[in-house]
Amino acid sequence: MTSTPTAPAVRMPATHSSGCPFGPPPAYTEAAGTAPMTRADLPDGEPCWLATGYAEVRTVLSDRRFSADLRHPTFPMLVGGRRELITAAPPSFLRLDDPEHARQRRMVTGDFLVKRVASMRPDIQRIVDEALDRMTEGRTEADLVAEFALPVPSLVICLLLGVPYEDRDRFQGLSRTLLNRNSTMEEAKAASDAILAYLRDLAARKREQPEDDILSRLAVRDDLTPEDVASTGVLLLVAGHETTANMISLSTALLLEQPEQIARLADPAALPGAVEELLRLLTIVHTGVPRVALEDVELGGVTVKAGEGVIAMLSTANRDEEVFGGAGHRPTDELDLDRDARRHMAFGFGVHQCLGQPLARAELQIALETLFRRLPGLRLTVPESERQFRTDSFIYGMRSLPVTW
Ligand code: HEM
Repeated sequence: MTSTPTAPAVRMPATHSSGCPFGPPPAYTEAAGTAPMTRADLPDGEPCWLATGYAEVRTVLSDRRFSADLRHPTFPMLVGGRRELITAAPPSFLRLDDPEHARQRRMVTGDFLVKRVASMRPDIQRIVDEALDRMTEGRTEADLVAEFALPVPSLVICLLLGVPYEDRDRFQGLSRTLLNRNSTMEEAKAASDAILAYLRDLAARKREQPEDDILSRLAVRDDLTPEDVASTGVLLLVAGHETTANMISLSTALLLEQPEQIARLADPAALPGAVEELLRLLTIVHTGVPRVALEDVELGGVTVKAGEGVIAMLSTANRDEEVFGGAGHRPTDELDLDRDARRHMAFGFGVHQCLGQPLARAELQIALETLFRRLPGLRLTVPESERQFRTDSFIYGMRSLPVTW
């Protein structure tokens, strides 16, 4: 075993200067082509490992010798100069290890169970239909991101959490700043403080006058501090709208490029599988998922030393030909809505696997099926080369998507 591989280190974050705009930056796929574990340099210059192979990513995300606790002194930072900010605020359970992670996650698990989400489908369908009614009323053109892809998941998570939708400009703007890799340390800190304060105030009001929503249920618990409630609220609010919004807009843009595949969405038996394939191919967490080794681990032909950072690249793992390829199917860097993509890791893997995945699946299935059913003539109003992708965020997506129908 060795910890000195021969491939040149990838400079993070890699960019999309070339290659398919729907796939991960080419530097990551090139690294994956050389070995399942390669070296990378983080934005602050620190070296780390890039786990690109399917088996290696699974191990990094499920083996307790890798920690998700970002207070660890050598936790790999995907943006430069943010360590000070990040270690000043209490992390949400996304960046804590068990048992604290499990304790906090358990408090909201029930709200996102498959059965619970199934009962929300009529509400989601109504939100989707109303968004389309507003978007199309008296018009034949719109920006699909601003009028459909973003409002739908924002309204759904607001309803669940008990956050007033009228406050959307505020929390959507703050989320963007937090998720933007180019925000300065001061901007990110101000956004983090403001969104935490917003949720702390809202939770304090809900503690006085509880309603039937997640924030009220958390706010009345005596075993949770106001900081715990606020950080869980921020995690759910941010993760609950930005991710699904970008999946809706990217999926729509990709399907408009390959209209012959759209018919699969109209088949109720094929729809869930089609959404899994879109999740697999688009894997919107392009930056990968960070962990730090707590002890020496031999993995993919190298030794990851205790204290070394590893970035688990979900996007390259999700293109593994051995797992997702196969006779009769297109190559794994192409969309094939008939592929069995169920083993994808777009939602991560292991104890931190996405809590909101049943909700995200329901939203994506309902939003995409309804969009293409109600607007069969949907098409872009700008050339494909002029579509605007969101390349500066932890979550890949689209800034705008001008369409007509
Ligand atoms: C298509 C949409 C989504 C994608 C691709 C996605 C992706 C992910 C990924 C990759 C992780 C794991 C991160 C890690 O291991 O460090 C994660 C965690 C998480 N996601 Fe999602 N997510 C989506 C939608 C949602 C929604 C709608 C919610 C709802 C509130 C949500 C809430 C969470 C939470 C709370 C965690 C932390 C889980 C834990 O640490 O135990 N996500 N998500």
